[in-house]
Amino acid sequence: MEAKDRIILALDVDTQEQALNLVKMLTPYVGAFKVGMQLYNSCGPSIVNRINDLGGRVFVDLKLHDIPNTVAAAGRVLTRLNCFMFNVHAAGGREMMSRLADEVSDEAARMGIEAPLILAVTVLTSISQRELEEEMLISGMEIRELVVRWAVMARQSGISGVVCSPQEIGYIRSVCGPGFVIVTPGIRPSWSEKDDQKRITTPRQALEMGADYMVIGRPITKADNPVEAAQKIIAELEEV
Ligand code: C5P
Repeated sequence: MEAKDRIILALDVDTQEQALNLVKMLTPYVGAFKVGMQLYNSCGPSIVNRINDLGGRVFVDLKLHDIPNTVAAAGRVLTRLNCFMFNVHAAGGREMMSRLADEVSDEAARMGIEAPLILAVTVLTSISQRELEEEMLISGMEIRELVVRWAVMARQSGISGVVCSPQEIGYIRSVCGPGFVIVTPGIRPSWSEKDDQKRITTPRQALEMGADYMVIGRPITKADNPVEAAQKIIAELEEV
């Protein structure tokens, strides 16, 4: 994979105009654009078509979590939208994930297109051990162990990979193997602001830890020159 293809630019903006300006500027320098609930709920699913029309691939970050039938139906629709990847909460369980994976692959085959990658979200990085135990009522397990066990369950259910924090990459890679797709946020080049990210990793470190893709937002979008920022990250990833 080329270095630029590893970069997924987070389009954390409200309007189609802001999003498409970033897409027009950055399509040659990144592999995909992440549309999360902010932009998707503001613009609707047509934002995916608009980005595709400009030559960009789209990661639809809506973190599906519902009964198996509903999630599988949403997955079929996202497949028809021709997104590159989308995600689902592993906490929804095996049946939800395997029905989703089966129906997405059937729908893609019916359409004669490549199936989108489906990523599992395990434990959100904002959740602490205390919240896991006292609020989610999951006890007797470290977050890291739960993350790995849900990653394994996702893989067994036909899910393509996970979104996880850089700290979890090594464990997940060693248990789930080289073919499992790992996407990681929390990336900050040494020259950029940390913003509200706490445990950060440089793009180069994330690559060396075994990430396939990295989600990067503000270090590029808020840079004085976003193209130059993306080019610097590509150069860092290409260093031998
Ligand atoms: O601007 P920044 O590079 O911090 O953007 C990171 C993106 O990755 C945001 O869209 C954020 O919601 C997402 N993300 C994250 N940390 C997680 C999961 C997702 O920063 N654990």
